[in-house]
Amino acid sequence: MPARINPSILAADFANFERELGRIATADLVHVDIMDNHFVPNLTFGPTMTERLQELSTIPLDVHLMIDDPDRWAPGYAELGAYSVTFHAEAAKDAVSLARRLRDIGARAGIALKPGTPVEPFLELLPEFDQVLVMTVEPGFGGQSFMAETMPKLGLLREAVKRTGLDVWLQVDGGITADTIVIAAEAGADTFVAGSSVFRGEPADNIAALRAAAEAHVH
Ligand code: DX5
Ligand code: ZN
Repeated sequence: MPARINPSILAADFANFERELGRIATADLVHVDIMDNHFVPNLTFGPTMTERLQELSTIPLDVHLMIDDPDRWAPGYAELGAYSVTFHAEAAKDAVSLARRLRDIGARAGIALKPGTPVEPFLELLPEFDQVLVMTVEPGFGGQSFMAETMPKLGLLREAVKRTGLDVWLQVDGGITADTIVIAAEAGADTFVAGSSVFRGEPADNIAALRAAAEAHVH
């Protein structure tokens, strides 16, 4: 089965995004981590930089909003052309209305769950979303270790996707390497974010290795 590999540019050289995008041209989507210093204790960039990335990138943007008040800010990322916009369940006031607005603008709508957030309330809402992001680290920083205790959530999601036949992508983000990607694929993920393990060394080789490991285990 195909697996989507989405490098996170959080691990790229922030002073040279044009070159860094060129190094990940074999990826499926570019994962763009937006952090606001409120929802998470780290700060990256906002819509202006994302718009420039959108202009430069040959592959679509997968925007991950780690921000407060996504109800107010997320639609702007869909409007600038992001292919996928994912906001956190813990931050949204009305997740279903927000997802509908994102879809109306033309983006895929994603909902993200921190490691401690249960998935059960979202299983019956699956038709409202195009992607569920199961965080496999606490959001905020790259380079952390994969939390295997989040895997049962993927099992429940994969079962619900199979049962309903919906086209909902199941994404994991945090600590994904050529080893942990196998665990996540077996658990039910089909879309994999990787920062450090892509940009450390040769990105094209790393993307190929991640893809091969995932595709042998995605179901
Ligand atoms: C963490 C971010 C991730 C991060 C992953 O809050 O959402 O996308 O870049 O980095 P690695 O792959 O290094 O864990
Ligand atoms: Zn992310």
